[in-house]
Amino acid sequence: MPETKTTALVLAAGKGTRMRSPKAKVLQTLLNEPMLFYVYEALAPIVRDNVLTVVGHDADNVAKAFPAMADRFVMQAEQLGTGHALQVAWEAVEKSGATHCLVINGDTPLVTVEALDRLMAAQGCCDLAFMTITPRDTGAFGRVVRDTERRIKAIVEAKDYDFSLHGPVTGEVNAGIYLLKVATLGPLLEKLENANKSGEYYITDLVGLAVEQGLSVDGVQAGNDISLMGINSPRELIAAEGTLRTRIVDELIDSGVLIHNPGTVIIGPRVVVEPGAEIFGHCELYGASKVAAGARLGSYNHITDATFAPGCVVREFNHIEGAEVGEGVTVGPYSRLRPGARLEKNARIGNFVEMKKAVLGEGAKASHLTYLGDAEVGAGANIGAGTITCNYDGKNKFLTRIGAGAFIGSNTALVAPVSVGDNALIGAGSTITKDVPDNQTGIARGKQVNLNRSLKRN
Ligand code: UD1
Ligand code: CA
Repeated sequence: MPETKTTALVLAAGKGTRMRSPKAKVLQTLLNEPMLFYVYEALAPIVRDNVLTVVGHDADNVAKAFPAMADRFVMQAEQLGTGHALQVAWEAVEKSGATHCLVINGDTPLVTVEALDRLMAAQGCCDLAFMTITPRDTGAFGRVVRDTERRIKAIVEAKDYDFSLHGPVTGEVNAGIYLLKVATLGPLLEKLENANKSGEYYITDLVGLAVEQGLSVDGVQAGNDISLMGINSPRELIAAEGTLRTRIVDELIDSGVLIHNPGTVIIGPRVVVEPGAEIFGHCELYGASKVAAGARLGSYNHITDATFAPGCVVREFNHIEGAEVGEGVTVGPYSRLRPGARLEKNARIGNFVEMKKAVLGEGAKASHLTYLGDAEVGAGANIGAGTITCNYDGKNKFLTRIGAGAFIGSNTALVAPVSVGDNALIGAGSTITKDVPDNQTGIARGKQVNLNRSLKRN
């Protein structure tokens, strides 16, 4: 077989009018990842980074969301249709040296590598191949027209379908994923016209044109594979998100993750959960979170970009983002761990404790009602209820250091920058503005006076 090279082309310039949102459709999220993320993920094993993307509407934000792809973005300033998007990108496709171009609508996030592989198998035999589906509701999908011998004749958009001209519908529709042979399809691009109900240039007209030219065309049938459904409306997006959610949760359960009440657990596609971890619903885990074997996440936790080491226990009702939870650590209930919170081995965080850019050393504890921001807490230290690191003077942030084995009495304000030495003790209710050396007691509060109580009333 002669050598082939495939460049993928993602069509992502449209506004997505039917979503009724100012945001570009491909940036709408499913499980907290933009729609386009999923399309790129499915393409990567097939074409690696050989991916061009046609952008237009909200292009700057699309570039911001995918900086690594943005140098291969092609701008379609005016969105005159999917065929026009292809015309605009064609020069870049040819320049990429590709023999084939795998075109995919950017609003198809459920697509799988397996489905794309099936289309790629047509590479050797066709000038143009595209995926077809036979969904229960053919909605606004482009209708596939075949002749009496079941050979492809054309794709006719739903709006433009004319029974007297095209015959009875078959239920087979276009999934919006095409494999084009660059050398033979290129010359047809200029033949596209916009004399249709939408006044747009349709990529789908290439099919009829190719058939007319005697090129080989095939429709690769994927049955009612819902993974190929495009997303056009909010309802379709939510339904697709549900499908993805179940797909991920089921895979994890099969791999050995115990997910209790799985219908209420949401796990994003980049989250890694090792077999042997245990998760209780309701729970949401997003971003690049990692849960090690033997970690246990209780109910009602909202987690983004956080890591959990073996043997840690996250109790119920916590909000955790960008935090590192170490081995044997206990968290919650009702805590908030913000980016840069690091809890070392066997540390404990209790209810109504907030941490931000702060390290809680091995075995250290902050059990109740505390704010630790821009702080380093040494091993074995005990942070009393109501301790606050006053890290911000309205302009800048400052660091608080608390030594190993220190004991901070309840209701202490630590005015940063400040440090409390190893094994130092702070009297309850203190406002600490000066460093406290190792092994010393710091106390800074108003002296108590007891006065006679006058019980006389006027
Ligand atoms: C398209 C197909 C239809 C198919 C369906 C499958 C056409 C004309 N119709 O319809 O046959 O059944 O997908 O889901 O292609 N886009 C651009 N530039 C444009 C217009 C669109 O980049 O000028 C992008 C959109 O951002 C979108 C994709 O192309 O990601 C498809 O466009 P959309 O308007 O959603 O096409 P459909 O009406 O769904
Ligand atoms: Ca669509």
